[in-house]
Amino acid sequence: MENKIHLHDKSFKIFIPNEDIEKAIDAVAARLNQDYASSTDEDPVILLCTLNGAVIFAAELLKRVNFPLVLKACKLSSYEGTSTTGVVKTEIPLPDNLEGKKVLIVEDIVDTGGTIVALTEQLKAKKVADVRVCTLLLKKDVYKKDVKLDYVAMEIPNRFIVGFGLDYDELGRNIKDIYVLDE
Ligand code: IMP
Ligand code: MG
Repeated sequence: MENKIHLHDKSFKIFIPNEDIEKAIDAVAARLNQDYASSTDEDPVILLCTLNGAVIFAAELLKRVNFPLVLKACKLSSYEGTSTTGVVKTEIPLPDNLEGKKVLIVEDIVDTGGTIVALTEQLKAKKVADVRVCTLLLKKDVYKKDVKLDYVAMEIPNRFIVGFGLDYDELGRNIKDIYVLDE
């Protein structure tokens, strides 16, 4: 594990080692296994991975959860560089036939919450039976929205981070530890 990395024009320093991320995911997966234990093959959980950031988190969860589920994905975007534009764009829309389903949104990080609010509204419009949010990271001093965040693996301060699926202008997703912008 490097202490410092460079992506585009910026440097980042080590923030959360992979080992700690994996432990936090173990804990969240154990809670999901309890809470979704009653799901059946006839009524599986829809695990909705938000591309691209949540791919690694979703894959790590998939290795750990044991209830019947169907994997789906969608893509919303709001970030440019190291800050949010405040406008949430739908790049890959939600899957069809979600009516009456139990949906578990798998997110990489909740920051202002714009993305999660837009997504839960779209899901409610599709008449899902239940929607819960599972996020790897939460910037808890920034998030002021009302949508309940059911499963939060780790809370972080208001800093810009990369790695473990998260990017700085598309670079850094394939780094297994999490790094923070070094200013
Ligand atoms: P929100 O809509 O403001 O909550 O932002 C959520 C989305 O912005 C996340 O799904 C990420 O894609 C991106 N994002 C927020 N904070 C960071 C960060 O620190 N590093 C990389 N991407 C981030
Ligand atoms: Mg994201």
